[in-house]
Parts: sequence; C-alpha cells; structure tokens
Amino acid sequence: MNIDEARARVAYLSEKLDRWNYEYYVLDNPSVSDAEFDRHMNELMMLEAEYPELKSKSSPTQRVGGQVADEFKKIPHKRLMLSLGNVYNEDEMRDFDRKIREATGKSQITYMGEVKIDGLGMSLIYDGGELQYCVTRGDGNVGEDVTQNVKTIRSIPLKVKDRRSFEVRGEVYMPKKSLERLNENRALKGEPLFANARNAAAGSIRQLDSSIVATRGLDAFWYYLVNAEELDIHDHSASLDYLDTLGFRTNHERKLLHGVDECIEYIREMTEKRDELGYDIDGLVFKVDDLSEYEEIGYTAKTPKWATAYKFPPKEVTTKLLDIFLTVGRTGRITPNAVLEPVRVAGSLVQRATLNNEDFIKDKGLMIGDTVVLRKAADVIPEVVRPIVEERDGSERPFILSEVCPECGEPLTRVQGLHYCLNKECPSRKIEGIIHFASRDAMDIDGLGESIVEEFYGEGFIKGIPDLYRLYDKAQEIKALDGWGDKAISNLLDSIEASKTRSLERLLFGLGIKEIGNKTAKTLAKTFKTLDAFLDYPEEDYQKIQDIGPVAAKSLFEFFHDQKNLALIEDLRSLGLNFNYLGQEQTDETSFFYGKTVVLTGTLVEYTRDEMTALLENIGAKVAGSVSKKTDVVVAGPGAGSKLVKAEQLGILVIDEAQALSYLKKED
Ligand code: IVH
Repeated sequence: MNIDEARARVAYLSEKLDRWNYEYYVLDNPSVSDAEFDRHMNELMMLEAEYPELKSKSSPTQRVGGQVADEFKKIPHKRLMLSLGNVYNEDEMRDFDRKIREATGKSQITYMGEVKIDGLGMSLIYDGGELQYCVTRGDGNVGEDVTQNVKTIRSIPLKVKDRRSFEVRGEVYMPKKSLERLNENRALKGEPLFANARNAAAGSIRQLDSSIVATRGLDAFWYYLVNAEELDIHDHSASLDYLDTLGFRTNHERKLLHGVDECIEYIREMTEKRDELGYDIDGLVFKVDDLSEYEEIGYTAKTPKWATAYKFPPKEVTTKLLDIFLTVGRTGRITPNAVLEPVRVAGSLVQRATLNNEDFIKDKGLMIGDTVVLRKAADVIPEVVRPIVEERDGSERPFILSEVCPECGEPLTRVQGLHYCLNKECPSRKIEGIIHFASRDAMDIDGLGESIVEEFYGEGFIKGIPDLYRLYDKAQEIKALDGWGDKAISNLLDSIEASKTRSLERLLFGLGIKEIGNKTAKTLAKTFKTLDAFLDYPEEDYQKIQDIGPVAAKSLFEFFHDQKNLALIEDLRSLGLNFNYLGQEQTDETSFFYGKTVVLTGTLVEYTRDEMTALLENIGAKVAGSVSKKTDVVVAGPGAGSKLVKAEQLGILVIDEAQALSYLKKED
C-alpha cells in the first residue's frame, strides 16, 4: 500500500468508526457487532503506526487513551464558568419566576426544564471542525486541561461538521452501571470504594494516565452552547437541538415549559422518575429559553439570574445500626459514631454517621441493632433520624458510653452534656491536633489529609507538629509505604515547605489554642503582628482587644505560659516558620455561604456563636438576628425554638452546625 492508498483507507476507517461510535454511544442504537468494530479499530491503529503522518488529533484511535501526563495544564476560561443559584421548594420556584417576569416585563416566561446531572462541569472548545480542548470548571475562572482524558469518552464528537469556533458546556458523569462495575472490581482488589458517582467521575477525570480513564465508563451530557448567538441561534431550546444535529449527546428528559405552573408540574414528574434514570441527578435546572433576555435579566457574581437549580429534598431510607464507636477530637471531645449497614442515600453509599453526643442517642432512644431511618440533610451529611421501634426483635441492646477514653484509657470528664478526654498526650488528640494544623483554614498543607497524618503517626514518623517539617529526613521510609512514589513524596514535602510562609493568623489558629477560632486568630494577628508579642503579654490586657472575653484571655495567657508550648514555638522558629502577620487575605467567593444571609439559632456546640458568626462573615455571609423572607439559611442547634418554626413556615433551608461546618470547609 502506498501513502495515498493508506490515506484513503484511514479516511474510510475513521468515517466508519466515528459513525458507529455515534450510533452506539449517542443514539444508543448500534448497527455493527463489537468484533466488527474492533477489527476496523485495529486496522486503523496499525495504519497509523505505519504512517504516523496520517494520525490526526481527532482520529477515533485517540479514544483508547495511552498518553500519560505529568500534570494538568491550567487554562483560563474565555467566559467565566458560572454555577447556579438554588431553589428548594415550589414557593421559591414561583419567586424565581416572579423576579424574571419583573425583569423582563413579560406576563409568562418559557423555560427549558432539564435534569441536573451530578457530575463535573466541563467545557469543550471546537474550532475548524475539530475538538481542540476539554477544560474542567476549576474555580470558574481557570480550569485544567483534561483533553486527553475527555477524548476517551466515546459519545463526545472529536469532529463536527460546523467549522466555526464555539464552546459547549456540560457535565461529565459516571453512569450508575459504570460505578457498580468499578466498585466491584475495586472490592475484588481490596481497593477503597468510591462513595458516589460524582467522586468516582472526579477521581477518574483526574487520572494522569488516559488509558485508565478509558476503562472507567464515563459519559457526558451537553447542556449549554456558550456562544449560541454568534452562531445565529436565539433560543436555548434551539441550541440544544443544534447540538443534537452536530452529534452531541444532549439529555432528552428536557421539556419546554410555558409558565411556572408547568415548571412545578415538571418538578413533580421528575421527582417520580428520578430513580429510574441510569445516572444520578441532584435536582433540575430551569433556564429562560429566549437568549435575547439574558443580558436584561443579568448575573450575580457567580450565577446567572436567568437560570436556577431546583434541589431535591433530602431522601430518607432505612438501614441497621450495627454498632456505635467513639472518636476523640482535637479538644479531647468524645463523639459517638454510628456504624451502619451500607446503604445508598441521595446518590452516595453511607456506612457511618455522627451521633453527636450521648444525649443525642438518648433523646432519640437509639439502641444498637435497631432498624433506623437515615437521611441526607441538604444532600450532604448523613443523619440518623429515628429508630423504627416496631421492628425490634429483642436482640437490640442499649448504648452505654464508656467511662474511659477509647484511645488512651484515661477517665472521661463530662462537661455540659459532652464528654472529654483531658489527657494532653492522648494519641487521638495529638493526631487531631496535627490534622487541624494542616487543615485548609489553618496552615493549608495541600495533600496532608487525615489518613496520611494517622498513617505517619502510626509509623512513628511524626509525634507532634514540628515533626512535619522534619519529614524530609524520612523520605526513604515513606517510600517504603504502600502508594508512595517519588513524585507523591516530593509534592507533599513541597506543600509542607510552602506552609512555612503562611501568615501569623493561620499559625495561631493552627496551634489549636482553646477558644481561638480563625476569626479571632485574624484579629489577634492584625493586632500583635508577630508571635513573639504574645510571649509576655499580660492576661488582663488581652480583654482590651476586640472580641476577646475573659475566657479567651485566660486561654491565651495560659497557652503562652505553658513550658511545653514555649518549647514548641521555639522548635517551630528554628525550623524556619514565619511568625509575622502578612496582611489581609481575600474572601472566598466560591463558598456555599458567600453572599447568603444566615441566622443562627439554638445552641452551638463546636463553636461559640461569635466564632460561628465570624467564620460566616469571614467567608462573605451576612449574619442576621431574625428570620425573614430575606434569610437564605438557618443554622439551628439543639433547643432552637420560634426562629426554627418560622424558617420552616417560610420554607427556608435549615441546616445544623455540623453541616454548616462542612459547608465552610467544602470547595464549591
Ligand atoms: S447550566 C450558566 N444545566 O450544576 C449555565 N448546569 O450547581 C450554568 N449542572 O456548574 C450551568 N446539570 O456543573 C446547567 N442541565 C444542567 C446541569 C448543570 C448539571 C451542573 C453544572 C453547574 C452546576 C451548578
């Protein structure tokens, strides 16, 4: 075969393979056998190997993967990749519609109703009839180039017949079947299971080896043509139809809805249908259909006002409470945790849930062995709601809280309904202290998560915080552990090294001084400028500082007069940590709470009310004293009364302290 014949053959094979891919993966209607497909694919691969100049970046052979990347290149988005505002019930949906009608002056709006796929936002850039880049959402401004990985998703067209330049956005996700298969394989190999489809999809897209991605069974739906108007398309529905004609896989649960009543009807219909779908959805999306209204309706900092997500209410399931075990927190606080028979709730596999404290268990009347109702509050945190007493068979036993610490065996102390281990040398407390030091709001040591701290502590590599900065000497020993290659070790050592230059407030917060939350740490850092200024500061003067009461003053004074802490500080100094305040950091616009009006009610356990207020304000939320229609979220603790009732009447999102904290820590 000469080169011209080869070229013609490559074109012939590519055309066939592209068509078969489309028939199989987009239309779900295959017309050839797998064997026939494979035969053509193999022939094309051989030809491309023989004539490398005939290999194009949109060849069907690209889907097999094979390229191994060192890292993902950062790519700025030409247009911000926005996220969506949320509504949680029919009233809020009507409110959303009212605002749109007011903004447009129209009496009835046509919306496109779509399912909200629980996956990863992705942007595809096409030009000259070929797929050029696939970029993750990232922080909305800058994403990562995952082109080689996304190309392995068979339903994504690598070539299109429109040669103009355009950008398509959608969601890469893992179908339920792929997740089951993946987890079965992982279980066989003794590897940890993915908790839900979303994590599995995210983990897969971040694989550096694209041939692994190709085996993960990912798929994608495309729901937004960014520059539709430049392509002379004027309705969102028309842009989805156009994407269909170009060969993109769009979602056909979509429905054009005339007015808000039809939206509500669609919500009811899809709530019923939700579990029948082959993929997880966490809600629905409503978009104004007429693109010419978008500018007029406008945008907030992070979301368009012409679209919203409707989030499904939390789901309840039943499962067995198999056991209750205790964990010891950084402050020595003891938390009972439920061991549950694994069960899927709102899209993820749950086998643990916090039971908060002894009184929580008593109030609910939980017994070990009970069948219990479990729900995912706000689709995030699993919560044991109540036991189903009728299902008891007599084998259940009451929970009796141990009188000693499960880790060090020292007697526990009960303070205001909570149990504490007061032994400062308790291994659990030490581990939690190191985890806290490394956490995002403290020294933000990327990659040093809970399990690594636990492992390193268990191996004797670290006994306290300063040992983190001596891990360099342990590189060889770390390498001997499972899953640690040179690259992983040097990444970890780099992020530990980078943490040496963090500003004073992070260090102060990281030291875990009782009563000093991250907002107070900021105030202190701004005031004192350097850690040394604390060393001989008089106790009574602390109280002159904003937000510092007698309890915090005492705690600070004691901390900086404890010989052990002073030795720790000197150790950190000699290791080269920065002790100075470096100026203000920016607020976090991607936070759940950013721009929201929050009301706190009831008793908070983990933080004081002032600390929680500070945490929220710090991240760009407004904390208000009373519940009104303007309230976005109510954080309710035990003993909440009329504010909680009012919030429920108004259909406002109510979360508890643990959820609030998880949101404060959560990305996006
Ligand atoms: S529209 C400006 N439509 O949900 C357009 N998003 O919570 C913004 N998502 O960031 C996106 N299904 O990653 C849109 N049918 C759908 C969606 C969808 C899932 C994701 C998307 C977005 C997030 C917002």
